[in-house]
Amino acid sequence: MPAAGAGRRMGADIPKQYLQIHGKAVIDWTLETLLSHEDIETVTVALSSQDEYWPDTQSAADHRIQTVAGGRERCHSVLNALEALSQENDENDWVLVHDAARPCVRPEDISRLVQQASAHGGGVLGVPVHDTMKRTDTQGRILETVERDRLWHAFTPQMFPLGKLHDSLQAALAAGIAVTDEASAMEWAGCQPLMVEGASSNIKITRPADLLLAEFYLSL
Ligand code: C5P
Repeated sequence: MPAAGAGRRMGADIPKQYLQIHGKAVIDWTLETLLSHEDIETVTVALSSQDEYWPDTQSAADHRIQTVAGGRERCHSVLNALEALSQENDENDWVLVHDAARPCVRPEDISRLVQQASAHGGGVLGVPVHDTMKRTDTQGRILETVERDRLWHAFTPQMFPLGKLHDSLQAALAAGIAVTDEASAMEWAGCQPLMVEGASSNIKITRPADLLLAEFYLSL
């Protein structure tokens, strides 16, 4: 679980994963959902070296959680966690990468991902694009309408065999590829991960309005 971001776009005093929703930190909501799931045994959390909030979370005392140092960007944080996991696990074990900032992920969507991605060699949760998509120039002038048919928003969790994901991510970063999610590293390595449809409520908390939306989803 990458959780080493500063969350600057939130404009809050503390990183977004530590903001409170109904009296509980965002990261605690996320970890509780993951660790309550029957298919998930342990979680490795990547934390910033400047993080002073983790020890105060309810998750900090959970023996199923280990922490590692985060990296410069999300992909480096994920690679650090995969490196730690590779020490103690088989390369064929499955790993799910999930953003700390997505506390609304539904257990049934995790189950569907696990079932479908494990039968396919890997996959990611996402939702189809419903709006009309445009590409613009740097001045904001529309250049074209992008065909939205078969276009998806890629969310997390993203699930792959540990060894393959580690090696692909490491190689993609060494090659200077911009890796914004795990699937892009796997695609770069020649794989075709499966897109598994999940709920659109699995938002990533990024801006202040997202916190209100997450509050609403977590009260349902
Ligand atoms: O910034 P963004 O919302 O894309 O971050 C997605 C997730 O990656 C968050 O949970 C954030 O804490 C994490 N992250 C990280 N290391 C970084 C930057 C972001 O673990 N250097």
